[in-house]
Parts: sequence; structure tokens; C-alpha cells
Amino acid sequence: MMAGVRLVGVWKEFEGVVAVRDMNLEVRDGEFMILLGPSGCGKTTTLRMIAGLEEPTRGKVYIGEDLVADSEKGVFVPPKDRDIAMVFQSYALYPHMTVYDNMAFPLKLRKVPKKEIDQRVREVAELLGLMELLRRKPRELSGGQRQRVALGRAIIRKPKVFLMDEPLSNLDAKLRVKMRAELKKLQRHLGVTTIYVTHDQVEAMTMGDRIAVINGGILQQVGTPEEVYNRPSNTFVAGFIGTPPMNFLEGTLLDDGRVDFGDFHLRLTAGQLELASGYTGKTLTLGIRPEDIYDVDISPVHDEENTIRGRVDILENLGNEKIVHVSLGGYSLTASLPPESRVEEGSEVGLVVNIKRAHLFNEHGEALF
Ligand SMILES: Nc1ncnc2c1ncn2[C@@H]1O[C@H](COP(=O)(O)OP(=O)(O)OP(=O)(O)O)[C@@H](O)[C@H]1O
Ligand SMILES: [Mg+2]
Repeated sequence: MMAGVRLVGVWKEFEGVVAVRDMNLEVRDGEFMILLGPSGCGKTTTLRMIAGLEEPTRGKVYIGEDLVADSEKGVFVPPKDRDIAMVFQSYALYPHMTVYDNMAFPLKLRKVPKKEIDQRVREVAELLGLMELLRRKPRELSGGQRQRVALGRAIIRKPKVFLMDEPLSNLDAKLRVKMRAELKKLQRHLGVTTIYVTHDQVEAMTMGDRIAVINGGILQQVGTPEEVYNRPSNTFVAGFIGTPPMNFLEGTLLDDGRVDFGDFHLRLTAGQLELASGYTGKTLTLGIRPEDIYDVDISPVHDEENTIRGRVDILENLGNEKIVHVSLGGYSLTASLPPESRVEEGSEVGLVVNIKRAHLFNEHGEALF
């Protein structure tokens, strides 16, 4: 049976350190939810509280309809009774056991009949492309194959919820990309609610149905990859998701609808001015992604008032794009230009800021929308 997961006002404190602060999060039945954030932000602690490996200092945890932790009522269901399966970064296979026995192990523990075990192992091995490898020991496998065995061991029980903590981070870049796609497909196929921890925003964007962005133990935003990318609710989310990261410019809103950045100005759209009404004469932060800034010579957008000039400090040619770091006034702006762009390091460049794509944030870094 599947189930969603719900955290209500969950806190975790370790001697003086608040690892998780008032977390409210609902993971839907069958959903692939990503917990994304920088190192130390509380991802693993959150996952461990769902698993029952940590007890919340405050708050409630539900798996499906079941209340599995409630500090006030003194409810705490131990991990083995929560019907969850966890996959960690270090897959911790039993080195002396074959692939077959590694995957069969959770069922043996539960005294499942031998015949049924055999059938399940073969089903899962088929699904994960491990049929040819059942007799091998972990040391005779590649990293990706070992990771698949660890996954097999987790899914063989058909748990209500999968919890995965950076399961791909030990793999090389190419294999990660491949396993990312495989894992996503597998989750779709099984339809089991999955909570997946990563600090890699590309992994989050490509795999998640929704992403919960965490910083400093505090949930910042929950949304689809599209939502967190296109409508980040604050400067943290805006800056954390996307490479190269969004540019942030701090300026003063003038009463003619332009924002003054000292050495240059940008003119906001009518819609943006409406959002920013009340900020005239005050400081605003304008966020613009590198891909929303164009080389004026080949720009698809023509907008005299939002064209600025600067000097190219650094040009990184990635083949499919040219990333330029341009200094103008006291700012360094990053733009990602198409390969056709003829800009050169050390020379002047005209940049068109596609102002429609700009994000506005108030003095607390909260998005205006
Ligand atoms: N058992 C513990 N005792 C004391 N402090 C802890 C303990 N476990 C975690 N912490 C602290 O809680 C905070 C959150 O840790 P957590 O492991 O959840 O971070 P994370 O987001 O998983 O980071 P990473 O990406 O590095 O794995 C950190 O400041 C960490 O030092
Ligand atoms: Mg962690």
C-alpha cells in the first residue's frame, strides 16, 4: 500500500543546534519529492525523522494516515514498523554475499517463503537489468551496478515509502546522468512515494515531481521544477537553482519607473511597476538569469532603455554557449550567450537585459509577486 508523508511543525535540535526549524511539508501519495539545499541545511535530519532514525524535538510526522511521531503525545513508531525503505549514499552491500543474496536479505529477515523470495528477486533483477549478475559478489560489480543492487534491495519489499539520501553521489558524472534517468523511470513504474535528498540542483530539477528547497533548517519553497525556477519565492531559491546562478543587482526605484544602479539604469515593465508600487525611492533587488541577457549584436530583443555596456573580464567558451563575466559600474554580470556571439575577452560589449524576465525582491529578499 502506498501513502503520502506529512510533517507538521517539525523541529529537531541537537545540543543547541537547530537542524530543522518548524518544517511543514506534505508529500503526496506516489510523488517523487526532492529535498534540496546546501550542505548542513537539515536534509538528512529531515529524512531520518521520517524514517524513525531520529525523534523530532517538536511536531508530528504522518505516513499515510498513521501518526508515526508526535512529541506531545509521546508517539514514536520505530523504523522497522514504518514500512519504509532507505537507500543511502554508501550502499553498504554485504561483501560476502552474492547479488542474489543481498537482494533476498530483507525478505529472509521477514521469513518470507523461499519460493516467493526467488520469484521477487528475479522480478526485481529483471526490472533493474541485474539478471546476468545474480551470482556475482559486490566487488565484481561496477559502481552503477552496485547502486542498482542497493536499489533492488530497497524495492524488493514493496514498502510504502522510499527514502533516498544522495544515492548517486558516489558515481562518476556520466553514470550519474544515466542512473538519474533510470531511477526516475523506476519510480514512475513502481509509483511508490519517494523522498530523495540531494544538494545537486540539476538532479533535483531533472528528477523531482516537486522540489522542497531548504536553507538553514528552514523550508524556503515547495514547487515543481518549473515553479522554483521561474517563480522563486526569495533570493536564496533564485540563487541556488540555475547555473550559472542568477545575477542580483541592488538599486533604487525612481519615480519615472527606472531602477537606478549607479552607473546604469533599467526600465521596469508596467506589470513590474505595479508589483513594486510603494517602493519608489526605496531599495529593490533585481534578479536576472544569465540566459536572459543578450549580446546586442544578435539580440532577439531590442530595447534601447535596457541595453547596457560593459567590459568582458572573462569569457568561458563551453562550445554550446559562451559564458561572459562583464563588469559595469560596481557590478559583475554573468551572461550566457549563444556560440554565434563574437564578443571577446577584454573588449566592450553591449548587453540587452530582457527585462520581462527579471525578478524583483524586497529588502528581505522576498519576491514581489
Ligand atoms: N547527531 C547530531 N548531533 C549534533 N548535530 C547534528 C547531528 N546530526 C546533524 N547535526 C547538525 O545538524 C545540521 C543539519 O545536518 P544534516 O546532516 O541534516 O545536513 P544535510 O543537509 O544532510 O547536509 P549534507 O548535504 O552535508 O549531508 C548540521 O548543522 C549538522 O552539523
Ligand atoms: Mg546529508
